[in-house]
Amino acid sequence: MEYSKKVVEHFTHPKNVGEIKNPDGIGKEGNPVCGDVMHIYIKVAKNKQGKEIIKDIKFKTLGCAAAIATSSMVTELAKGKTLEQAMKLTKKDVADSLGNLPPVKMHCSNLAADALHKAIIDYKNKKGKK
Ligand code: FES
Repeated sequence: MEYSKKVVEHFTHPKNVGEIKNPDGIGKEGNPVCGDVMHIYIKVAKNKQGKEIIKDIKFKTLGCAAAIATSSMVTELAKGKTLEQAMKLTKKDVADSLGNLPPVKMHCSNLAADALHKAIIDYKNKKGKK
């Protein structure tokens, strides 16, 4: 199976690459299978309804094409979402949004959603609420 058009698009033109200065939360996830590592940085703000949302999000990924494409996609999916909604994003949501990944590459797609969830948990821990 080949990479979908969407995967190639997000790999060659990834969205939200980089680092956020003084982030509200950082999530780091490593892939034990290949040793690749992903960092996700988030900035949190309140929306008009007073709910906390992901105002800004960036990623840094040392990994394969699938890892980069899924990082890019997860940042796009999470941006502007409430923390609650972002916590519910799954690796399946990410893979589905990319028009699916080759089966041997599914392990790569685990990183993105996990790193996002860790960044949110990091933020909550820092704020002193579980
Ligand atoms: Fe390491 Fe894909 S081969 S994340």
